[in-house]
Amino acid sequence: MPGMRVTLGQLRAFEAVVRLGSFSGAAKELFVTQPAISKKIRMLQEEVGLPLLEQVGKQIYLTQAGRELLAVCADWLETWARFEQQIADFKGLKQGRLRIAVVTTSKYFMPRVLGPFCARYPGVDVAMEVVNRDRLLERLSRNEDDLYVMGVPPEDWEIESEPLIENPLVVIAPASHPMSGRRDIPFSELAGEVFIMREQGSGTRIAVERAFRERGMPLRVKMELGSNEAIKQAVAGGLGLSVLSRSSLVALGGGGALSELDVRGFPIRRHWYLVRPRGKQLSVVAQAFLEFLQEHLSLLQPEPAGGTEGPAVRTG
Ligand code: PGA
Repeated sequence: MPGMRVTLGQLRAFEAVVRLGSFSGAAKELFVTQPAISKKIRMLQEEVGLPLLEQVGKQIYLTQAGRELLAVCADWLETWARFEQQIADFKGLKQGRLRIAVVTTSKYFMPRVLGPFCARYPGVDVAMEVVNRDRLLERLSRNEDDLYVMGVPPEDWEIESEPLIENPLVVIAPASHPMSGRRDIPFSELAGEVFIMREQGSGTRIAVERAFRERGMPLRVKMELGSNEAIKQAVAGGLGLSVLSRSSLVALGGGGALSELDVRGFPIRRHWYLVRPRGKQLSVVAQAFLEFLQEHLSLLQPEPAGGTEGPAVRTG
């Protein structure tokens, strides 16, 4: 049997007529005419297929079917009212979820803006996926998140992107390396070194390979590691050099396990971009985050020297 076609308006009319004991009272409460209320009740009865109300004189009585409907109706209306409240809260940003996906290197600065954002909107939950460029593109193509942060937005995709902050890539070496502390090292000297590199599909990897290709130089990859942190450990352990986003390093000025080399052609100048599919209807929460981010770009700037994770880095 096909389901009954009942509208929320009919249920509201029915509930009001029963509660107030009159058609005119219900019409007044719901801001409609009395014939409109009568019509809704008539249509509701037709759908149910049994009388719901009996009128004796001026008194309105519920039939048995009417009593059953009233019980269900009260539940539905309450559930609906809760839903309406929730939507109002979303609009007022009291609740909601922000989904963002960021490339590995942005995990070092995105939390700096997420903290204050969550403090401003305490009812908003944040889910931040930290993935490499390839995985991020997959998520973007499936429209899985509200916003994305990445190094190199793909050129031929239907996306909107805006630069956020600079993302310089620098050469790192163990602090004890002979090049450490030297000034203006020619790029060609890197040809004699072995590198610990990020995996294929990483934006960092793409940028480094391009820099070597442009100079017609071989890039000798001794080891691939899928994590910037693991690479820092490997470089500190003397396994080779690497090129990483400066944001993944911590400048301590002296005594560090790693040092940033002063090589010509470095840092490789890049930016992080905020990306979303073109024309995507942003959720209220995502829109608020976008505006918050634009107003608080200064929070994203690198922290002054100070400890976070991994081996310390000496610059210059
Ligand atoms: P990656 O991205 O984690 O894929 O290397 C970093 C970047 O593109 O800046």
